[in-house]
Amino acid sequence: MFPLRVVRRRLAQLLRNYNLLKRLVLIGGIFMLSSYSIYHLYWGPGYMSYVHGNIWAKCMIPQVNPFDKEIMKFYWKPDPIVCSKETDLVYFDYNATLHINKTRTRGKIVTCNYQEIKRHKDDKTLELGNEVWFNNSVIVKTDFVNVNCFINKKKIYSRLHLQVYRSDKTVKTKKNGGKNYNILMFGLDSVSRLAAIRELPKTLKYLETNLSGYVLKGYTKVADTTLPNLAPVMTGHYAFTKEFPVIPNLPYDNHPFIWRNFSALGAATFFSEDWPRLCTYNLETSGGGGFSNPPTNHYMRPFYLAINEMKLFEAPLADVLQFFEDKNFKLRDNSYLCYGDNPMHVLAIEYLKRFLIAYRHDFKFAKVWNNKLSHNYVNFIKLADDDLLDLLIFMKTEGFLDDSFLFFMSDHGSRVDKIRNTPIGRLEERLPLMSVVIPEHIKQKYPNLHENLETNIDRLTSPFDIHKTMVDILNENFQPKEVGQPYPRGISLFRPIPEDRSCANAGIDEHNCVCYSSEKVETKMPVIQKLTSFVISHINEQLPKDICADLKLKKILAAKRVHTHLTYDQQTQNKKPLLYFFYKPKDDTRERYLLVLQLSPSDGVFEATVEHQNEKDFNILGDISRTNRYGNQSLCIHDMHLRHYCYCK
Ligand SMILES: *[C@@H]1O[C@H](CO)[C@@H](O)[C@H](O)[C@H]1NC(C)=O
Ligand SMILES: *[C@@H]1O[C@H](CO)[C@@H](O)[C@H](O)[C@H]1NC(C)=O
Ligand SMILES: *[C@@H]1O[C@H](CO)[C@@H](O)[C@H](O)[C@H]1NC(C)=O
Ligand SMILES: *[C@@H]1O[C@H](CO)[C@@H](O)[C@H](O)[C@H]1NC(C)=O
Ligand SMILES: *[C@@H]1O[C@H](CO)[C@@H](O)[C@H](O)[C@H]1NC(C)=O
Ligand SMILES: *[C@@H]1O[C@H](CO)[C@@H](O)[C@H](O)[C@H]1NC(C)=O
Repeated sequence: MFPLRVVRRRLAQLLRNYNLLKRLVLIGGIFMLSSYSIYHLYWGPGYMSYVHGNIWAKCMIPQVNPFDKEIMKFYWKPDPIVCSKETDLVYFDYNATLHINKTRTRGKIVTCNYQEIKRHKDDKTLELGNEVWFNNSVIVKTDFVNVNCFINKKKIYSRLHLQVYRSDKTVKTKKNGGKNYNILMFGLDSVSRLAAIRELPKTLKYLETNLSGYVLKGYTKVADTTLPNLAPVMTGHYAFTKEFPVIPNLPYDNHPFIWRNFSALGAATFFSEDWPRLCTYNLETSGGGGFSNPPTNHYMRPFYLAINEMKLFEAPLADVLQFFEDKNFKLRDNSYLCYGDNPMHVLAIEYLKRFLIAYRHDFKFAKVWNNKLSHNYVNFIKLADDDLLDLLIFMKTEGFLDDSFLFFMSDHGSRVDKIRNTPIGRLEERLPLMSVVIPEHIKQKYPNLHENLETNIDRLTSPFDIHKTMVDILNENFQPKEVGQPYPRGISLFRPIPEDRSCANAGIDEHNCVCYSSEKVETKMPVIQKLTSFVISHINEQLPKDICADLKLKKILAAKRVHTHLTYDQQTQNKKPLLYFFYKPKDDTRERYLLVLQLSPSDGVFEATVEHQNEKDFNILGDISRTNRYGNQSLCIHDMHLRHYCYCK
């Protein structure tokens, strides 16, 4: 018999006989193989296909519980992102100068050189400039550099650095009579509105309360992946059709991105997207053409490509290493979500901030898209909540939101199979985060914008509408206008979106539509009685008994059964053998009702959507809204939320 000790010794002997390189190749090979199998057999994208049965029905926006227990199973808190303790040895100021940080070198004589990182012809390859040596500081006329530092010819530091350099070429950006409005798009891949409620509570709260942002509850995707959900935003066209052809390896330079219209009017433009392999316009399944010329004045892709080239050994393993990190199983001290002493998303934020500062008084269009944190995993994004909040605070306090429209958004919800196999996950996947912040003085000048946006929060909206909104911003078209019949596919959010809009009206097909519809039912049904008492006690429980009267049922004004319309479609699903071995389609077995109740003594009329399973597990979905005025009934209470319910004694 071989005791374990002997086996281990033999193995150690064997390994010692290999040289370092062979060992690395061996370990790397095993890793790649296992990562390939885990990723593609089990974790890779695949889905259960569900289709909507009636896309012409007037849309009732689904009310769902973000903390539904079915979906909470998939959420946990990974450990904080830990990056290298080795801080930057050099830094860029805001005046195109790269400095050696003399505090950091503590009197040692350090010499450095930098090399410009240049795009070579296309989106795929890079070129390094000549080494330029410096002992203290040096003027750098480009955005990205690779810096190496030495003490007595021994290399002690090698890292990429970035700034936003305003070259003479990009300084064409004088405002048109000083009144153009900027667009700032900040995107997080694969984040539904509900996921944002769970994962980014601080950011979302600041966005809604401090920035008075409008978070759309009915914003629905129009296709499966990123490109076909962003192409409609950026161009107003459906991707993979004649409107927006996707031809393998053909660059996207000539597609009518709206940033080109902004640029034509003199805006400085900016585009950053992390994770080069997965980039919206470079991903193989999206044609992979990328851009042959930089699409914007400042374009971050070369920087991310350079990171990958510097981490040659790690890059192919990133997928599997992140898989372990998501499970809080550390294979290394520093997180794979870092570059140097910063998480990657912080670098994207840093580059954006530098762009805003460099073009502080100029007309501009910026688009930032973050894949790394949220594309494959649902839990990392919460680790960015503080950084995202800081970015919004920066934008606000530095005054960048005074003349900019901010779109803080996503493309679709989590596409992780197991989540999509829950009834809530299926909805979430189709309902991405989309929020809009508009400049305060525009809101004052055109009160109709606020009114319409407030209404549109609860209406069916799509990426085509965001494009129309951007066109309105481009043309400074803020005057009130109604929407006529037949409804156009895209409607600016500055107009009142019709209440009876259907998925079909909005260009949303049966694979993406999530609208509910409802039919009247008899109010005398026993289940309606039970749900009614549940709603009333739910309201009463929240009220302070000493000052508010106990509310009682006066009349059930209406009861409607809510239909979800999503049904399993075996035909079109993407087969993943292992996935389907473990997971069978999980059907939605809950029933939902919409109740309209009049309560005494206030005569208040309340609307609530309630779900239950076998007349148990009652659950109120969304808010209970009050549809008539409470007038002076609630003067005794200051809580805005409770004011709707309280009848002062
Ligand atoms: C930036 O650099 C220019 C010349 O290179 C100089 O005149 C100016 O004072 C500098 N500004 C700051 C804030 O350092
Ligand atoms: C220089 O290094 C010190 C010590 O590491 C650090 O505290 C400081 O923030 C650095 N300065 C800049 C401008 O990065
Ligand atoms: C940096 O310092 C070294 C030695 O002090 C000197 O030889 C070299 O010329 C200096 N380089 C620059 C670019 O000033
Ligand atoms: C947001 O606004 C609230 C109340 O208006 C205020 O108390 C809070 O400090 C603000 N948050 C931040 C981060 O400024
Ligand atoms: C944007 O520019 C293109 C090309 O010049 C033009 O065809 C299109 O109509 C413009 N779009 C808007 C909304 O002005
Ligand atoms: C509340 O308003 C009604 C009419 O709007 C008025 O008759 C009544 O006196 C008011 N009650 C109080 C307490 O202000």
